[in-house]
Amino acid sequence: MAFKDKMEDSAEKVESNIILALDLTDKNRRRLLSRSLTTLESVHPHLCAVKLNRQAVLPLGLFDGVQKIVARAHDLGLQAIMDAKINDIGNTNRYIAEYYFEAGFDAVIASPFVGWEEGLQPVFGVARKMKRGVIALVYMSHKGAEEGYGQTVCNTTTGKLEPQYRIFALNAVKWNADGAVVGATYPDKIREVNAILKDKVPIYSPGIGAQGGDVEAAVKAGARYLIVGRAIFEAKDPVKTATRIREFAWKSRKR
Ligand code: XMP
Repeated sequence: MAFKDKMEDSAEKVESNIILALDLTDKNRRRLLSRSLTTLESVHPHLCAVKLNRQAVLPLGLFDGVQKIVARAHDLGLQAIMDAKINDIGNTNRYIAEYYFEAGFDAVIASPFVGWEEGLQPVFGVARKMKRGVIALVYMSHKGAEEGYGQTVCNTTTGKLEPQYRIFALNAVKWNADGAVVGATYPDKIREVNAILKDKVPIYSPGIGAQGGDVEAAVKAGARYLIVGRAIFEAKDPVKTATRIREFAWKSRKR
């Protein structure tokens, strides 16, 4: 089954489109792993997937702690996404993706700034071979996103001036990406990008809560999945908070 379909399946099964960004911090690496596993286990009924980034890979090690988290996520019926923002030359990118897939990740996030040829093409190649997914950045959630993703640039295919993120959205369709990331902090951009992606590429939206993004606004604008970190794991009661966000997001998705 393609990653896109596996995600849809997981979401429908638990009626949740919430992806937990498991970004806990702890100076003690052993405790970081056990706290990450405990958090995942307690919140998992409200999730369709878990997302890790290098903030976890660096202290825990890919084929050590991180692989344990990925295996646990799979045992719990969740998809595992590596927020690698792959962004190097093709040969390096291919090995980076291969390592993450070997560790068990179902999909990686990659940056389209490196382009297709000798950029992301090898990442898509290895993903297809290993039956995994590639999610492409289109517009990031942070304040400075405008300086890169929001620049007006010359579209090298048409020769016309266009915002960078619109070209990235067109690329996501052209490359048959399994997902496109657009920050929940920019619902107008979600709407605009969604009109380009149509139903071909689902939008993954980080930035809920801690970065100021709103669940209902993001989902109604077209976000298919919400990536939520601190708003859940830093809450007084993470399970209660995850339940509330999940129910609200799912209701907004159906409306
Ligand atoms: P918080 O705590 O702000 O965590 O809910 C958000 C998580 O998502 C990551 N992040 C992004 N990942 N594109 C991405 O691929 C983005 O625009 C983006 N913004 C935030 C962040 O690293 C954290 O894990």
